[in-house]
Amino acid sequence: MTTPFTTTNAGAPVASDAHAQTVGADGPIVLHDHYLVEKLAQFNRERVPERVVHAKGGGAFGTFTVTGDVSAYTRAALFQPGTSTDMLARFSSVAGEHGSPDTWRDPRGFALKFYTSEGNYDLVGNNTPVFFLRDGIKFPDFIRSQKRLPGSNLRDNDMQWDFWSLSPESAHQVTWLMGDRGLPRSWREMNGYGSHTYQWINAAGERFWVKYHFIAEQGVHTMSADEAAQLAGSDADHHVRDLHEHIEAGDHPRWKLSVQVMPYEDAKTYRFNPFDLTKVWPHADHPLVEVGMMELNRNPENYFAQIEQATFAPSNFVPGIAASPDKMLLARIFSYADAHRYRVGTNHAQLPVNAPRAAEGGHSYAKDGAMRFAHADASTPVYAPNSRGGAHADPARAAESPGWEADGELTRSAATLHPEDDDFGQAGTLYREVFDDAARARFLETITGHVGAVRDAGIRERAIGYWTQVDADLGASLRAALARTAPAENGEPGTASEPVQV
Ligand code: HEM
Repeated sequence: MTTPFTTTNAGAPVASDAHAQTVGADGPIVLHDHYLVEKLAQFNRERVPERVVHAKGGGAFGTFTVTGDVSAYTRAALFQPGTSTDMLARFSSVAGEHGSPDTWRDPRGFALKFYTSEGNYDLVGNNTPVFFLRDGIKFPDFIRSQKRLPGSNLRDNDMQWDFWSLSPESAHQVTWLMGDRGLPRSWREMNGYGSHTYQWINAAGERFWVKYHFIAEQGVHTMSADEAAQLAGSDADHHVRDLHEHIEAGDHPRWKLSVQVMPYEDAKTYRFNPFDLTKVWPHADHPLVEVGMMELNRNPENYFAQIEQATFAPSNFVPGIAASPDKMLLARIFSYADAHRYRVGTNHAQLPVNAPRAAEGGHSYAKDGAMRFAHADASTPVYAPNSRGGAHADPARAAESPGWEADGELTRSAATLHPEDDDFGQAGTLYREVFDDAARARFLETITGHVGAVRDAGIRERAIGYWTQVDADLGASLRAALARTAPAENGEPGTASEPVQV
């Protein structure tokens, strides 16, 4: 077999892959060895900034196939009966850096990109149906409290519990996180959720509120805190490896997508604020409606090009799917596209993994910018409106009205208009009614370890108060357990029962 000659980036043949050009065999290297300079300079630029959150992850390509009939609720092409759509999924952990262990306790990202016939649809969710916050203005503070101290660069339980205990709306998600599902056995064996409430619009223009549930056909399996801690040391890439190896072996993971559907008008009178991301809609109120099956069946050929440079944005909607008044979602709609311009570059949407495949996907008036390579021919107008046959906006999209009524003074407040809009109710239900006795015992052990590692007695006391509001008996058990595990003096770390990571 003949192998090709190495070339420079400009395509000229290279004399040596092993020796820099020197003055005599042992002499100094010369600056005009431009191939050496090119190699070293290119190497220095191999990384793009890691994602500010969800930095560690992996993913695969696959197919979404519609198996149900939800055409009464959405006109989105990808959800019409008989449709099959190519897609990409990326799973991740939230707080750790790019090389952090996959098995640290954390929510897991569940980001999906569907290459639909009407443009790319991104659904950027987690493996949890709820979140820690209900207003995006708190997100940077929340994330900083979960990352590292500015001085020591260490993660810190005091910061975590300080923030959580001062943000009671976090209780539902923290209960979820400290429970068994905070340590999934693999990405294949966890469910995914759109988490937010989204809007669907059908062909007649009728609007509905929906929540997405991707239920793992592999079943939901978790690992113990001990197993997770051991794997964090012995195989930090455990979840990346698991996904890659199963797909490589032809064992393709699948998730069944169902949605909960709420008629548009019912939102006003529902017992919870349906746009509050700290709440679920009980299935008894809104049962699951089958949509289709997602299968991951193709590993990336190049991790950097296809996973690291992949850009998922909650602003990437397609006709028939739109936002809701969820304030977290609205903040995210700004945040991701902005992150992508910074992290990957203003023309990130041109990269093959991000580029729309729809026939109508190439008529944007965006032009120029760093690394632009796609362009229309010179006769295509670069402005709109024009009388030269250039693309024009679709008036049907405006008529579709993917919005909602809103009125009132500008304000910075959260109205509680629904009877059960509290912070702790659903967290208590999860603890008392979803967890069994064994799960509750493990939960107490986990929070005892976490709160026990808090040094500041005031924060520890607030954390006990937080769990007391979730469940009075739980609060009392936590207080007793902390007393037994030699509670920390102010300034002294307590005894942690698992690595202090969230
Ligand atoms: C990644 C912001 C809430 C799921 C990111 C990134 C940013 C961000 C800037 C990095 C994007 C990139 O560089 O490509 C925010 C803000 C939030 C928020 C401002 C609140 C207002 C959420 C929520 C969820 C979520 C509620 C899930 C329900 C994800 C996922 C990723 C991510 C899965 C990784 C996407 C990927 O794999 O590329 N977030 N986020 N985020 N976020 Fe959020």
